[in-house]
Amino acid sequence: MPAEAGKRRAFAVISHPDAGKSTLTEALALHASAITQAGAVHGKAGRRGVTSDWMALERARGISITSAALRFDYRDTVLNLLDTPGHADFSEDTYRVLSAVDCAIMLLDSAKGLEPQTLKLFDVCRARAVPVITFVNKWDRPGRSPLELLDEIEQRIGLHPAPLNWPVGVAGDFRGLIERETGEYTIFTRTPGGADRALESVLDPGAAAARDGDAYETAVEELALLDEVYGPDVDMPAFQAGVSSPVLFGAALPNFGVRRLLDAVTALAPPPSPREDVKGAPRAIESPFSGLVFKVQANMDPAHRDRVAFVRVCSGRFERGMVLTHAATGRPFATKYAQSMFGQDRETVDVAYPGDVIGLVNAAALRPGDTLYSEPPVEFPPIPSFAPEHFGVVRCSDAGKHKQFRRGIEQLDTEGVVQVLSSDLRGDQAPVLAAVGPLQFDVVLHRLEHEFGARAGLDHLDYTLARRTDAASAEALRGQRAVEVLTRRLDGALLALFADKWRLGQVQRENPDLLLEPLLADAA
Ligand code: G4P
Repeated sequence: MPAEAGKRRAFAVISHPDAGKSTLTEALALHASAITQAGAVHGKAGRRGVTSDWMALERARGISITSAALRFDYRDTVLNLLDTPGHADFSEDTYRVLSAVDCAIMLLDSAKGLEPQTLKLFDVCRARAVPVITFVNKWDRPGRSPLELLDEIEQRIGLHPAPLNWPVGVAGDFRGLIERETGEYTIFTRTPGGADRALESVLDPGAAAARDGDAYETAVEELALLDEVYGPDVDMPAFQAGVSSPVLFGAALPNFGVRRLLDAVTALAPPPSPREDVKGAPRAIESPFSGLVFKVQANMDPAHRDRVAFVRVCSGRFERGMVLTHAATGRPFATKYAQSMFGQDRETVDVAYPGDVIGLVNAAALRPGDTLYSEPPVEFPPIPSFAPEHFGVVRCSDAGKHKQFRRGIEQLDTEGVVQVLSSDLRGDQAPVLAAVGPLQFDVVLHRLEHEFGARAGLDHLDYTLARRTDAASAEALRGQRAVEVLTRRLDGALLALFADKWRLGQVQRENPDLLLEPLLADAA
């Protein structure tokens, strides 16, 4: 069993929208022979039938909400790529996915370098000590110089870059890649549309100089320079501690440098390691089954109005049909319907090992952060809930549908789609929703209408900041201008909402004894 776990790599791609995450996902799957033509996963090239309500919302918004977990075999390794939502808005799902991976690929657009969402996601990786491999994409298009990009990584996020290969030809005039450790020079031949693997051939230095003259010489000189600044070897402890990041160059669209990236993930990304339980005791990989629910998705397939819980296997061997225990309730959980997801396709999964992701259907009782186990019991720490920055009052617009509305709100809260806040003052009819990204509100309204049959409207509130408080401080805050205290339904926490950090600062100065704790003890 440890051998099976040792073969697994669970990772995610973090990037700013448009950096090429979907394209890279396709290219990785293509190289790993999981698909035969690029476009099959996200339906871009194949334009396969779009089936669920989710997809309809995604299409309408031009975004991807449905996170899939892709599994593919590469050489002797089983790669599990957990898809983070690719839209510009932030949602709690993204954070949750990062709590279930052992490594992340930070994908940069060669012309743009570090962008806001990359930075935000990187912060989560850093806080959770997730090791990061950097892939500089779109080298076939005009972009910045490689040294400048490395410098930016080092200066802005303090991550020590360790380039594993080096591009020949400036961005936009991509000739090939020199492998730093061996000096091997690989050139690529584009296939039409990049739909198939690019052809790779290796040139010796003589042939390289003859073919790519100045560009090759420049790259060799840069490499010599590089050796003085960034040593040639990956410092594994520094990488695993999230201090240093191996960097690779390439272009996902024409498939250049993608195989090398897969090799890097296989060789460098850590296999599953023992996960600590709530008391800080690690659950050994070979212990009986345990898994962490990191995402719950309802209504993925309208043909079966179901709810799928995505579980990351943390220890032991999973066998379909096992009866597990749901740590939060102590109740048994049957796993007759276990599936693996591949893009929009599902397959029954019979066996899974640490590092794998399984989708459990009919998982109405499961919430993100829950633990499932086989004896002996274990409970993993909850996935921290993140500080909301967007708030709005939601109201049912159909008279006579209040019951459905209430049921929907309760369900969406339980699933972790948004946080639901309430107060005696506001009452049950119009709860306050709190979200990390405003897209979460759209999802709530869409699902209330289509899944629960209750149309609803949302009025945004002018708060942008929440602090945890206690009953005594809540009392003192009552009646203060532009401050409101609400109770989070799921855990009863008291949250004080403020318009902005200036108002918060003012309140703190005037009432220095109040308890106003930041919520973003998040990933720490
Ligand atoms: P995302 O999921 O991160 O949002 O990005 P996506 O893969 O959709 O890529 C964004 C755009 O960048 C796409 O172009 C895609 O073709 C392009 N792209 C991705 N990787 C590369 C690359 O290595 N080289 C070049 N030249 N382009 C790349 P689009 O025109 O917006 O979409 P499409 O119509 O081509 O699908």
